[in-house]
Amino acid sequence: MQSQGVFISFEGIDGAGKSSHIQAVADAFRQEGRQLVQTREPGGTPLAEKLRELVLHDAMDPLCEALLVFAARRDHLQQVIEPALARGDVVLCDRFTDATFAYQGSGRGFDLAVLSQLEHWVQAMPDGGLRQPAMTLWFDIDPGVAAQRLASARLPDRFESQPRAFFQQVHHGYEQRALADPGRFARIHADADLPTVRQSVLDALRQRGYLSGAAE
Ligand code: TMP
Repeated sequence: MQSQGVFISFEGIDGAGKSSHIQAVADAFRQEGRQLVQTREPGGTPLAEKLRELVLHDAMDPLCEALLVFAARRDHLQQVIEPALARGDVVLCDRFTDATFAYQGSGRGFDLAVLSQLEHWVQAMPDGGLRQPAMTLWFDIDPGVAAQRLASARLPDRFESQPRAFFQQVHHGYEQRALADPGRFARIHADADLPTVRQSVLDALRQRGYLSGAAE
């Protein structure tokens, strides 16, 4: 029997440490015999990766930024995410539309109603529904702690180089999205040490029934 596709996104401010946990989640699904697609936004297709380079490194106004991340998302959905879900795969996506509401909306102060309109155009499904992840793991971290982690990281891009106040706003944006959709969001306390965070991530996936109850 074919498995049902599952779409899971990973979100959080820069420095929250989410990327290091995506591999552990992928390993856990593979151990259960699931076919898996590991991808990211902006990006995930040749076109979307080109758009990612522009968004992360070229100066532009917030409308341009929003249009480019949604253009990348459209291509990513059509080329990668929808086909994978139709095959019954697990799709693990490092960021999705909540990032646009948090970064372009709360961070840059861009009109949330326009973002909502774009979300409805880009993520519309043939049955009239809206494509969203089934579950979103939100790595919630104090922006001060995240900034310390980032200080030792690689050369910052246009977002990573923003001041602390920007990340406080982005954090607030994630909080608003999580409050608006508590059934989809699982809040992970990402201030903790790596093994503890990893355990919370796997526990959250088991609680929602996406991974079996067996210990790792
Ligand atoms: P990453 O470093 O986690 O891959 O994310 C790339 C950057 O792009 C990160 O700083 C957040 C930003 N971003 C947006 O501003 N809007 C979006 O819609 C997405 C997906 C990412």
